[in-house]
Amino acid sequence: YKRVTVKTLVDMKANGEKISMLTAYDYTMAKIVDGAGVDAILVGDSASNVMAGHETTLPITLDQMIYHASSVVRAVYRALIVVDLPFGSYQSDPKEALRSAIRIMKESGAHSVKLEGGKEIKESIKRILNAGIPVMGHLGLTPQSIYKFGTYTVRAKQEEEAERLIEDAKMLERIGCFAIVLEKIPAALAKKVAESVSIPIIGIGAGPDVDGQVLVLHDMLGMTHEFNPRFLRRYLHLYEEMTTGISKYVEDVKTQDFPNESEKY
Ligand code: KIV
Ligand code: NA
Repeated sequence: YKRVTVKTLVDMKANGEKISMLTAYDYTMAKIVDGAGVDAILVGDSASNVMAGHETTLPITLDQMIYHASSVVRAVYRALIVVDLPFGSYQSDPKEALRSAIRIMKESGAHSVKLEGGKEIKESIKRILNAGIPVMGHLGLTPQSIYKFGTYTVRAKQEEEAERLIEDAKMLERIGCFAIVLEKIPAALAKKVAESVSIPIIGIGAGPDVDGQVLVLHDMLGMTHEFNPRFLRRYLHLYEEMTTGISKYVEDVKTQDFPNESEKY
């Protein structure tokens, strides 16, 4: 395999080739995702919800993110691996942000980090970039600040917030980020942002006129079934499939159908 790098992604935008990205948090799933040809894998702090069952992304720790990231790194041959800096690991000051990013790079072997926010965290991002660590930005709906907003509804519907978002995107490009995730904003605004910068814009709930798409793996596989935002397309219905298989196993054990003659020593 030829490895996907941050430069590959920037070139893909220049060539008009769309970028596919999915989350992964463990070895087995990451191996499948990479083998299926996804360009970039996000070890998202959505692991807090998906893997640990928390209501928000806030509780997951830097150590836990490093555990998830190192499991993914061991599985992946081709995709670029991006790791979320979790809540509380970069907001205090730029030095803390750099220390956290260095821990992720050294202890997991991942290729880049992602931080939520615009100008509030500009100095932290610059510090990480100065150390040679590629940074992906994340604007629009930023789940780590959920308690500031109180809801997970569409962001930047008002002119003022939309303009601030465009300014933040331009700033992130200027200081050297290699891409930006745009979460849950109007499609027309996302299109405008993608046209305003030359680095790739990866959307989730940001419409089709961006440079790539990202989804949470367990959601798009239909393993989760209580979360139904409009932007989520389910490619499989594994919740039902897995329930059927596991129920059958339970039944087979009870009825002594399993194990049979050929399944014993
Ligand atoms: O943590 C995550 O899964 C994310 C994506 C939704 C972009 O940040
Ligand atoms: Na995230």
